[in-house]
Amino acid sequence: AYVCSACGAAASKWAGQCGECGAWNSLQEVVVAPQPPAGGRGGRAGYAGAATASVVHTLADVGTDEAARLNTGIGELDRTLGGGLTVGSVVLIGGDPGIGKSTLLIQTLAHLAEQHRALYITGEESPQQVSLRAQRLGLPRERLRLLAETCVERILAVAAQEQPQVLVIDSIQTIFTEQLQSAPGSVAQVRESAAQLVRHAKRSGAAVFLVGHVTKEGTLAGPRVLEHMVDTVLYFEGDSGSRFRVLRAVKNRFGAVNELGVFAMTERGLKEVSNPSAIFLSRHGAPVAGSVVMVTREGTRPLLVEVQALVDECHGGNPRRVTLGLEQNRLAMLLAVLHRHAGVAMFDQDVYVNVVGGVRVQETASDLAVLMAALSSFRDRALPHELVVFGEVGLAGEIRPVPNGEERLREAAKHGFRQAIVPKANLPRGGLPEGFSVTGVERLAEALAFV
Ligand code: TYD
Ligand code: MG
Repeated sequence: AYVCSACGAAASKWAGQCGECGAWNSLQEVVVAPQPPAGGRGGRAGYAGAATASVVHTLADVGTDEAARLNTGIGELDRTLGGGLTVGSVVLIGGDPGIGKSTLLIQTLAHLAEQHRALYITGEESPQQVSLRAQRLGLPRERLRLLAETCVERILAVAAQEQPQVLVIDSIQTIFTEQLQSAPGSVAQVRESAAQLVRHAKRSGAAVFLVGHVTKEGTLAGPRVLEHMVDTVLYFEGDSGSRFRVLRAVKNRFGAVNELGVFAMTERGLKEVSNPSAIFLSRHGAPVAGSVVMVTREGTRPLLVEVQALVDECHGGNPRRVTLGLEQNRLAMLLAVLHRHAGVAMFDQDVYVNVVGGVRVQETASDLAVLMAALSSFRDRALPHELVVFGEVGLAGEIRPVPNGEERLREAAKHGFRQAIVPKANLPRGGLPEGFSVTGVERLAEALAFV
């Protein structure tokens, strides 16, 4: 049947416009469950069955054993998954074509296959290509089992025989179900095939990885719906020009979101980067104007990143406010605070702010660093080389504390920084190394006066 995604009306054949609500292009193919046989017996049995099957518990009665986790052998992946791969969970790995999803999964599966039954389903590459890649990467190939298949019913039949504990589907867009007529890769196909694989994972306790390509619009091709069905969504990101790749958890039923795993793509596959601060920090030879180092947190890990600003005279009407890696509206707001509470006006200046290394900072702790970088560029005066900054700036010009202040300071000290400007409430109660001086500020004006 076809169901309108806008109003839910059902139709027996496809049309460009929904006959009920008039929405365009909203009809999608769905599988209709077979009707239970009519007649007294079926109806009665169904009623009685439902009454006995549903049992209400109190929370205390429900078993709460921690779900078992498998060690993938790749520390950065374990970290992003929240401490290992949960048995019976479904993990969606999204990313641009060519970013390294297949490489990551073949490496992971080769490790897992040493101790568990693992099955790799390839729908895009031939078995020869996959095997050749594994050989080139120097991975053990004896125990990893491989199947080239795109029909989900046949995949599940093989899975029922092989009983894999870990199953990789590369990629979900190539998989189709015989129950639907639409082409593989269409929303309906992807959703229905994924639903069957999710049911398999829950029933058999196998952990399933689904690979999904991202379209140019930045969503997982077609099915945003997939994100609701799976337990964990990881995005694999990175600039095509850079060899560094970041694996980010955007949804996780078994761990923290925004957790980052960092890898480098080498000629021998993906290598873990266990100290990412070192790569995101580009240290200039001499101090330069417009550059400030801040300590942000990604998931559970502090990360040092450089915030750069360029403030330049604006010619023509509207001054530009451009940000990369930060929220644009927040910059406009911060510049208003700077004007109102520190008397620095930039209404005749273009302001560009960039977070180096393609990192996206999603927390407000970057506020103070952004303003200091902008002011440093505006006055063309460099800030001290060994300074780190973090803190949220409020509309009243106050500097508010951020979570995990001490941990951020320890990370900065570890990387050789000697000076920090932080919110007063984040001042540590001792425990910092010799020679590391921390200044606590309450007002924006105080912070600016200090530098
Ligand atoms: P791949 O894993 O095929 O990407 P995806 O499955 O996300 O589409 O990665 C392919 C890219 O990785 C390709 O551009 C070549 C590069 N690569 C290396 O640089 N080194 C390697 O060892 C491998 C296997 C791939
Ligand atoms: Mg691939």
